[in-house]
Amino acid sequence: IRFFISRDAASLAVGADAIAKALQQAADTKGLAIEIIRTGSRGLFWLEPMIEVETPQGRIAYGPLAPENVAELLTDGLMNGEPHPLCLGRPEAIPYLAKQQRLTFARCGIVDPRSLEDYLAHGGYRGLARALDLGPAAMIEEVVESGLRGRGGAGFPTGIKWRTVAQTKPGQKYIVCNADEGDSGTFSDRMIMEGDPFVLIEGMTIAGIAVGATKGYIYIRSEYPHAVHAMEAAIEAARRADYLGSNVAGSEWAFDIEVRVGAGAYVCGEETALLESLEGKRGLVRAKPPLPAHVGLFGCPTVINNVMSLATVPFILAQGAKTYQDYGMGRSRGTMPIQLAGNVKHGGLVEIAFGVTLGELVEGFGGGTRSGRPVRAVQVGGPLGAYFPVDLFDTPFDYEAFAARDGLIGHGGIVVFDDTVDMLKQARFAMEFCAHESCGKCTPCRIGSTRGAETLDKIAHGMEAEHNLALVKDLCETMKFGSLCALGGFTPYPVMSALTHFQDDFTPVRHAAE
Ligand code: NAI
Ligand code: SF4
Repeated sequence: IRFFISRDAASLAVGADAIAKALQQAADTKGLAIEIIRTGSRGLFWLEPMIEVETPQGRIAYGPLAPENVAELLTDGLMNGEPHPLCLGRPEAIPYLAKQQRLTFARCGIVDPRSLEDYLAHGGYRGLARALDLGPAAMIEEVVESGLRGRGGAGFPTGIKWRTVAQTKPGQKYIVCNADEGDSGTFSDRMIMEGDPFVLIEGMTIAGIAVGATKGYIYIRSEYPHAVHAMEAAIEAARRADYLGSNVAGSEWAFDIEVRVGAGAYVCGEETALLESLEGKRGLVRAKPPLPAHVGLFGCPTVINNVMSLATVPFILAQGAKTYQDYGMGRSRGTMPIQLAGNVKHGGLVEIAFGVTLGELVEGFGGGTRSGRPVRAVQVGGPLGAYFPVDLFDTPFDYEAFAARDGLIGHGGIVVFDDTVDMLKQARFAMEFCAHESCGKCTPCRIGSTRGAETLDKIAHGMEAEHNLALVKDLCETMKFGSLCALGGFTPYPVMSALTHFQDDFTPVRHAAE
């Protein structure tokens, strides 16, 4: 019998290894021959640790399990075909998953991330095969036509970025994958690197051939040791099978990838600071222009894309731009891997076409708060994203719709808060976070964030509230327009949204009463 248990870091955190061990022990005791395959996660974290077993009807899932449930599973539920209280049925039929459109995450939680054979058996490298048939120029046009926009947060069209690099004069060029996933509540980059690493390798290889780059780097944050390990093992396997190296998949193109590990600075997720860090220097932000597409890593033209953007490319090439384009709304085409976190009942990964509303995500998929109290606010797009009140839950997940409401979708992270949240404290946290993570290069961010935290403290203590509120607003304007990069420039989003939508929390009365 074949069993599947996730080895994703989130599954390990809730005891997946202990479940695998208990299952093997129970099988040994019973003299049953079993095979345990360690996969990535399906992204239904509240049901983890989960076991899936292969049956003639497909895989059947059980969870959330404790090690002591495992032996009983082998006797009662599984062996007799009797209903078991922890039986979840076919994972694909669980509504949370059934309602999704998994294009980028199609294989995650299903395949063995260490097996290139498994990747190939599940449609892997079909994108590269078609890309090689098309040739570099047509590959780029396919990505342009798909409408794919940068999933790191800024939403710049991926194909246009590739075209810019392709049009620079021939010579050394690079593909850099930004895997410094620093936003609070985000984990989609990590999940794909741990659960389907070959899809990222395939996407980077297509990007390299498209723009004429022979070398790629994946910059992974140091907090992701499992992802580093999974990527390195997959790169090694791809090299052995000639999917990386001097003649990629038997073609005339050369491409290879190296993993580099960050050192724990949020600002190194900003593309130019990331390049500095890759070059072995301190992660200071560079002024743009020149764009990295023109002058990037070691002064060479460089494509920098987020993990999600690159991991989506194989689907687009394999299935065609039109198929991808068919999903979505407005100028936001395709699907977005959205991550539900914080005080939420059903935390996990929701890959779905753009257009789904914030309410459907938080209440529908997420099931409201884990505490059972009413939802009061959600922060979308990481620590630099705006707070949305429940009144704005009709906002569709779409770059432009969020911008129209002074928010951003960023990297797709949603952090949920119940009615016990103090929004003044959250606004202060944004300033404090910025002060802590600022690279120090420009004044509005370096000094402004510290002054911002101090001024919010004064408001909390009832000191000249009106005057200090005006100061905070003024400071936010200065930071927004005067900062060199998104860290200082976007910190006003959480602060101003808290001020606009949750005014009551900024009145001295409330704080004096506490
Ligand atoms: P940006 O708008 O300056 O640039 C977006 C991308 O397009 C960059 O790669 C830039 O080099 C490229 N680009 C712009 N014009 C181009 C052209 N004409 N040709 C070729 N390439 C061009 O935005 P930035 O500062 O890179 O990113 C800000 C975003 O980062 C924010 O929206 C925020 O949501 C997100 N962010 C994401 C985090 C994460 O953990 N994923 C953390 C913090 C912020
Ligand atoms: Fe550095 Fe902040 Fe200026 Fe960005 S905004 S360059 S992080 S000081």
